[in-house]
Amino acid sequence: MLKETLMLATQAGAKELQHYFNGNFAITNKEGINNLVTEADHAAEKAIIEVIRHAFPDHFILSEETGALQTDSEFKWIIDPIDGTVNFANGIPICCVSIGLEKAGKMIMGVVYNPFMNELFFAQSGMGAYLNDRKISVSQKDTVIKSCLVTGFPYTYLDSPNGPLEVFQKLVRQGIPVRRLGSAAIDLCWVAAGRFDGFYEHKLNAWDSAAGYLMVEEAGGKVTDFEGGIYSPYQPHILATNGKIHDELLAYVRGEK
Ligand code: IPD
Ligand code: CA
Ligand code: CA
Repeated sequence: MLKETLMLATQAGAKELQHYFNGNFAITNKEGINNLVTEADHAAEKAIIEVIRHAFPDHFILSEETGALQTDSEFKWIIDPIDGTVNFANGIPICCVSIGLEKAGKMIMGVVYNPFMNELFFAQSGMGAYLNDRKISVSQKDTVIKSCLVTGFPYTYLDSPNGPLEVFQKLVRQGIPVRRLGSAAIDLCWVAAGRFDGFYEHKLNAWDSAAGYLMVEEAGGKVTDFEGGIYSPYQPHILATNGKIHDELLAYVRGEK
């Protein structure tokens, strides 16, 4: 029933993305520059929440545009109706619906669905990660210099030592390919699928990473904060890798390399 609802909610959200994509929709700005929210974000969020509320009226919901619909249930749905909104608003088909489900503070299920590439990623704790029903696993690369990485930049840039641009520059100056797709949820899934060897970002919210970090862990990868400690989606830093390059990439991110 939980998985069924997760899938129904995802499809309901994705239908809105497909409806609005490349069409006419209202766009407004949030905090920062070019931090957009579109009519499609709101429509997808509404559709997703309706499905979850219908099945589980007492569950806790945390969703990007609505905020927290708090209850004392041990189940918490963490929703990003469109991850990659700037892409979406520009007609770039790298965006998705992302929904994670937590039980008693532990992520137990997640879906990331990009309807424009027909890629549905699903993970369940202890059961692995899947792309369109095919089991996926992380890559085998064992050094950063041989890796293909991905990152993202926050809307409100924090100009701090070892900030996003400094780390990016250090890697790129050594000839290491570092991509920037514009959707943290997809970045994480592509690490899980072995397309990328590692992903880091300095300022994410729980809805950006909830489903994606479970995907990486279930695909055999490693996810931590910038101290190398257990990852929590309720703090901003994320380092997600195939496990083999984790310590080395952590040193770059910390400015130790
Ligand atoms: C953003 C994307 C982007 C990341 C930003 C996020 P949004 O989410 O995941 O890749 O770099 O930090 O805020 O605004 O498209 O839902
Ligand atoms: Ca997001
Ligand atoms: Ca979003």
